[in-house]
Amino acid sequence: MNEKVLVTYASRFGSTAGVAQAIGKTLAESGVQVDVLAMQDVKDVSGYRAVVTGSAINSGVWLPEAMQFVQTHQAALRSKPFAAFLVCMTLSMRSAENYRSHVATWLEPVRALVRPVKEGLFAGALDIARIPSFGDRLKFRLSVLFGAWKEGDHRDWDAIDAWAQELKPLLAL
Ligand SMILES: Cc1cc2nc3c(=O)[nH]c(=O)nc-3n(C[C@H](O)[C@H](O)[C@H](O)COP(=O)(O)O)c2cc1C
Repeated sequence: MNEKVLVTYASRFGSTAGVAQAIGKTLAESGVQVDVLAMQDVKDVSGYRAVVTGSAINSGVWLPEAMQFVQTHQAALRSKPFAAFLVCMTLSMRSAENYRSHVATWLEPVRALVRPVKEGLFAGALDIARIPSFGDRLKFRLSVLFGAWKEGDHRDWDAIDAWAQELKPLLAL
């Protein structure tokens, strides 16, 4: 077991990857050795003293590879500090605070496998033109039209930094 912390992410369009990088940077700046890796590049978590796992939300759930990751490494993750975060557009809404407790339920399937020492709920980014499915593009254009949310990058770097600072002491063995 080395002293490194793993921050690993599942991301379709890069915004969750950016959140993971920011968490890794904050931890590294406070003296933690960190690897920030896409989930498909992680084969084994046994060498890490703690693991932080995050995913973009699609249709109210973590991306399939993120759930698969927690399932595959469930036993190892249960034996060390494990933190989980999600990135979604609901939290970019003006009335986001009203939806926070609902958004938190999206981590329930993760909790059922491994209980996180801390959970992060972050607003993400949306560029509708990059969504491959016509149906999904239409759905998002309509939700923008009806004022549910705005396109663009809504990541709150201060909130992400604050979360990572609070996380640091919880990642100790
Ligand atoms: C197909 C699709 C489905 C989505 N479903 C939801 C959803 O159910 N709830 C939500 O709040 N955001 C949803 N989003 C928004 C994404 O979670 C958000 O844009 C996130 O920042 C994307 O992360 P990524 O850039 O790492 O892929 C969806 C985005 C896409 C493309």
